Amino acid sequence: MPETVEAPGSSPAEPLLEIDGLQSGYGDVQVLWDVSLSVGRGDLTCIVGSNGAGKSTLLRTISGLLTPRAGSIRFDGEELAGQPADAVLARGIAHVPEGRRLFKGLSVRDNLLLGAYLRRDRDAVQEDLAFVYGLFPILKDRQWQDATTLSGGEQQMCAIGRGIMSRPRLLMIDELSLGLAPRLVERLGEALLQINGTGLTILLVEQDVMTAFEIARQAFVIETGRVSMTGTTERLGSDPKIREAYMGL
Ligand SMILES: Nc1ncnc2c1ncn2[C@@H]1O[C@H](COP(=O)(O)OP(=O)(O)OP(=O)(O)O)[C@@H](O)[C@H]1O
Ligand SMILES: [Mg+2]
Repeated sequence: MPETVEAPGSSPAEPLLEIDGLQSGYGDVQVLWDVSLSVGRGDLTCIVGSNGAGKSTLLRTISGLLTPRAGSIRFDGEELAGQPADAVLARGIAHVPEGRRLFKGLSVRDNLLLGAYLRRDRDAVQEDLAFVYGLFPILKDRQWQDATTLSGGEQQMCAIGRGIMSRPRLLMIDELSLGLAPRLVERLGEALLQINGTGLTILLVEQDVMTAFEIARQAFVIETGRVSMTGTTERLGSDPKIREAYMGL
């Protein structure tokens, strides 16, 4: 059982995503062992852990890119384990992958619109495009440019924007800060708070624990494919074990 560090009297929000006993991996290689966690409705939650701990594997399993061996993934009361990726996206989970993965040869605008490919509500798609351009004005300035020629920070904005364009109920972001300057990470963190302020639930995966704890309110620590600790970022951020193991303090 993971150690829970919870503020006394705090009542966690009603879960939007509930994972129980999840086991997953690649071929014969098992990566996730009995992972259980929950993400509150409207919350901004992070998953942290060292290289190779299984963070990306967890997001890939939630989004249907990997099929779990066991366990359940309940989203808004519905079972998603074993469903294909397009069905998971249609249910309202968007996955911003590690490394951003924008499409070469397509403009910024077309990359953003690809996020909305399952949608038929054209007017609302245009509203969401305007929201993304309002959030990241540089993307509007660069909307006709090949998305893969954007700077690293701009590509991350475009990848997040593409996620928003599916109008998800849960936005999952894998490695927000990877390879980006601190000032840019701060800017992206502010954008996530703004997005979360609209009521969208966010699950952030980060290797940089300090950054993750500044942005998120709840945290799960993953060690070698298992959840080892959970609690508010405020409490975990002052936990000596976490400070020593993950923050170099
Ligand atoms: N396609 C794959 N085939 C086989 N093994 C894989 C594959 N992708 C990842 N793994 C293994 O699964 C384990 C967990 O990897 P994962 O990418 O989930 O870690 P992570 O926590 O996201 O790490 P990082 O912080 O470096 O992104 C690692 O041991 C890795 O080698
Ligand atoms: Mg990863």
